[in-house]
Order: sequence, then structure tokens, then C-alpha cells
Amino acid sequence: MRFSSFLSIAAAVASTFAQLSSNLTLITEDFGENPTNVPFYLYVPKTIQKHPAIILGVHWCTGTGPVFFENTEYAKYADQFGYIVIFPSAPRESKCWDVASNATLSHNGGSDSLALANMVKWTLRKYRGDPNRVFVTGLSSGGMMTQVMVATYPELFKAGSSYCGVPYGCFRGPGEWNNVCSEGRLIKTPKQWGDDVRNAYPGYRGPRPKLQIWHGSEDVGLAYQNFHESNKMWSNVFGIEWKRNNTNTPFANYTQMVYGDGTKYVAYSAAGVGHDIKITALDVLAWFGIYKPRPTTTTTTTKAPAPTPTALPWGQCGGITYKGPITCGKGFQCKRWTDYFSQCIPKY
Ligand SMILES: *[C@@H]1O[C@H](CO)[C@@H](O)[C@H](O)[C@H]1NC(C)=O
Ligand SMILES: *[C@@H]1O[C@H](CO)[C@@H](O)[C@H](O)[C@H]1NC(C)=O
Ligand SMILES: *[C@@H]1O[C@H](CO)[C@@H](O)[C@H](O)[C@H]1NC(C)=O
Ligand SMILES: *[C@@H]1O[C@H](CO)[C@@H](O)[C@H](O)[C@H]1NC(C)=O
Repeated sequence: MRFSSFLSIAAAVASTFAQLSSNLTLITEDFGENPTNVPFYLYVPKTIQKHPAIILGVHWCTGTGPVFFENTEYAKYADQFGYIVIFPSAPRESKCWDVASNATLSHNGGSDSLALANMVKWTLRKYRGDPNRVFVTGLSSGGMMTQVMVATYPELFKAGSSYCGVPYGCFRGPGEWNNVCSEGRLIKTPKQWGDDVRNAYPGYRGPRPKLQIWHGSEDVGLAYQNFHESNKMWSNVFGIEWKRNNTNTPFANYTQMVYGDGTKYVAYSAAGVGHDIKITALDVLAWFGIYKPRPTTTTTTTKAPAPTPTALPWGQCGGITYKGPITCGKGFQCKRWTDYFSQCIPKY
């Protein structure tokens, strides 16, 4: 089983798609080296932050940039939070990303990964983006590409979120598709996987993007074993150990596996879920620090916490139906995005 169609997701978001503040644009100007001629689509909302965050959203096999744009909520939330989204299209007939060639798997090596890195750099320059808020996410082939991007361009990204992907380099080989990996038969030690990542950009000593991964236990497109292999890889790269499982987090039948203190690497295992795992954009945006969920009251708390006099950094501070604090803390200002949503953003 090779490709899956995710077009069924379309219905859920089609209604919001029509109300966006802006539209997808195909960038035709020179944005730097693009050896595989990857089409570059960009979503810039009508109102962006002064130094916007940039998200690279990478589609699944058979998809395109516009398909990922229409079938995810990233553009809708870009309107709300003022970030920019890059929606590239895979340049080959299969509409799969190159996650196999030595070129794509090496820092500045060429192929698709270089094109995507150059799109990010161009967008940062053009829109004076915030280099400390550059993110990558994708599903299936895009989930694989997410792991490729954070491994090969660790200096560019601050965080990644990979849905039903495979470890970086797992597909390496002469062919576009790698059955040994997709079927979960490529098994390595944590050290071997970690070395693969370290060899993607030899000599790199800087910080690495934090990463969350999501995988369904019944995935037959990219076998669930790849979840375990990814966990070995990234816990080794970050030098952290598995600490605990939080069951039914963030949804029923999902288990959150926390590594270290939970700030570098977190893995979500979805019991009973297949390759059509649902992208929950707000969970991804929360990991990226773009969306701040309201703290949930825990059952162990005996006393309700005192109400906060000021809204949290990045938290909501206004809106027609909003009832919380309307002033922001030190260094933050309340910015109105829509009638329903104002947010505390840094004073630049
Ligand atoms: C938005 O862009 C897409 C792709 O470029 C195009 O097909 C569509 O017609 C545009 N929609 C609007 C409302 O301009
Ligand atoms: C890719 O790199 C590996 C070593 O990592 C090497 O064995 C292989 O020959 C290379 N493939 C090509 C096509 O250059
Ligand atoms: C969780 O798994 C159980 C057992 O397989 C199933 O009956 C239930 O419907 C699942 N819940 C959700 C929300 O998917
Ligand atoms: C939870 O923790 C155990 C270690 O006790 C681990 O082996 C297991 O795979 C974890 N993850 C899930 C999703 O249950």
C-alpha cells in the first residue's frame, strides 16, 4: 500500500477556506537555488505580525501545495495569529517528496530539501520574518520531509511537527520509495539513528529544532514501527530519555510519550488510528508557541487558582465573546486580529 488519499478531510475545512483574508500565491521570482523545480506557493494573510512566524507546510504523496492549503487549517489560523505559511508542491509525478537521495539528505546537498530551505530564507528576508519562529510540519510524505528538514537544516528551524512520517534518512536509497522502511523493517540502534542525523550536517554544533511526532498504531502506509525508530533517533540526538506516558492526551486513545522535560521531544501514539490520522492544527501551533491554550484546571487542585490580572504572553486579550483579562504583561501589547480574537504579542 503506497498512497492514500486524504481528500475526505476537505469537507471539514472547505467552509472556512472561503472566508480567508487572502489567497495562495505562486511565487515566480527567483528565491534561490531550486534544483528540482519545486513550485513555491505562499499564504500571506492580510494582517501579519511585524516580524511574523513562518511555517513550512508539507503535503502528502498525491497532494500539492494548494491541496494542503485547502485541506488543513493553517491558513485559517494564519489569519488569526498573523504568521505566514509556505505551501510547496512536490515536483514529480508521484507528488511525493524526495526523502531518499543523498542530495536531499545533506545540508546544502541539493534536491527538494534545498529548495524548501531557500523558500524559507527568501520569505524571512521578504517579510522580515522572525528567525526565532520558523517551523515545519507535514503529514505522510510531508511528515517524512519534516524529519528531513529538521535534520538537514537545524540552524533554520526552531521546531517541527511530523505526522505519520519515518525517521530522517530511513528512505535513503536509489529509489523514490523504500519498502523496507515503509513496512517498518529498517531497525537501528539509537546511536546509529543519532549518527545519521549528526552526519546530515557534519560539524554542526548549534541548537536543534524541537520536534513532536504523531503516528497511528494501525498505520499500514508507513508502518507504526517507524514511530519507535523515530523515538530512538531523536532521544539520542537530544540526549534525553523517555520519562513518562500521559494516556488519553490530547484526545481519547492518544498517548503522549514525554522525553526529558518535554521541551525538546514529544511523541504521540494514536491507538486504533491508521494512516489517515487527523491533523489537529492547534496542537501543532501550541507546540510552535504560536497558540497558547488556556491552562486546564487539574482535578488534583483543591483550590481554584486566583484569576490572573493580565493575559498570558501570546494569550487572548480581547474579542466579542471573550471574558478574560484584557491587559497584557510587561513587554506585550494587545493586538486585535479579528472581532473575536485579540492577542498579547511582544512590543517590537
Ligand atoms: C485563490 O488561488 C487559487 C490558486 O492560485 C485560485 O485557483 C483561486 O481561484 C483563488 N481564489 C480566489 C478567491 O481568488
Ligand atoms: C549515498 O551515500 C551512501 C553513504 O551514505 C553511499 O554508500 C552511496 O553510494 C551514495 N549513493 C549515491 C547514489 O551516491
Ligand atoms: C478508543 O478506543 C476504543 C477501543 O478500541 C473505541 O471503542 C473508542 O471508540 C475509541 N475512542 C475514540 C474517541 O476514538
Ligand atoms: C509507554 O511506556 C512504556 C514504557 O513503560 C513503553 O514501552 C510504551 O511503548 C509507551 N508508549 C505507549 C504509546 O504506550
